[in-house]
Amino acid sequence: MSTVDKKALYGFIERAKNRETSLNKSQVRDLLISYIHNFFITHEVGKVRFLTLPTAWWTFEKAIRKRFFSFRTFRIRAMFTGCERDYNIFKLAGLRMPKSNKKMRYSIMEELNRTILTNGRDCVLVYSDIFDFMSVTDKKFNCLWIDTGTPIDRIAERLKLVSRVIMDGPSLVVITVLKGREAGPLPDGMDRIQFADSIMNKRGFERAQVWEYQDTSPMLQLTYQKLT
Ligand SMILES: C[S@@+](CC[C@H](N)C(=O)[O-])C[C@H]1O[C@@H](n2cnc3c(N)ncnc32)[C@H](O)[C@@H]1O
Repeated sequence: MSTVDKKALYGFIERAKNRETSLNKSQVRDLLISYIHNFFITHEVGKVRFLTLPTAWWTFEKAIRKRFFSFRTFRIRAMFTGCERDYNIFKLAGLRMPKSNKKMRYSIMEELNRTILTNGRDCVLVYSDIFDFMSVTDKKFNCLWIDTGTPIDRIAERLKLVSRVIMDGPSLVVITVLKGREAGPLPDGMDRIQFADSIMNKRGFERAQVWEYQDTSPMLQLTYQKLT
């Protein structure tokens, strides 16, 4: 076999080993960042309030801020509220919050008796389950990314809380769920996309994108939008 053929073969084996033969999480994250940016430019929204699960690294949030900042034709301000329910990850996330030139503040969210870290005007981290937070907060958001990595039926009931926290006007909700299995059968023989659609349609959202990717398990990422 020629060296060129071998390169192709070994390259393929390497990619398969790294699960890169289909899209991976960071590729889908990049697609999502472009989609979100284009959506808010198209609808001329100058301030996007995100509710996300940043883990320890805030990878998505930092990339969003960079992307928004580098596009000079229409500047969008990104404001982040992140939730994390694992205390060790929360502490690490507190150390890696997107930069601000203000001092970090510590407070308690009375309704949940949970810690909140605030870094400048645009970045907040709450030590809480995201749905518990959604059930009590007075804040409103125009972009949610619910990336709990669980089956859709596990979060279906609590997804209804989207109505409580979503702003009027153009907004996006991204839901990332396990593709491989459900915790139980879905209602009316629906598949997982139809089931997610049925929940989101009732909240005024239409499905705009479906991306599948391989993480430690196959994942399904659904993006929903509403315009009013
Ligand atoms: C899959 S990661 C999020 C990754 C992020 N979307 C990204 O691409 O960079 C999920 C994180 O959220 C946390 N988490 C999962 N379910 C949660 C929930 N219901 N409420 C709060 N945190 C949750 C996990 O501990 C983990 O740190």
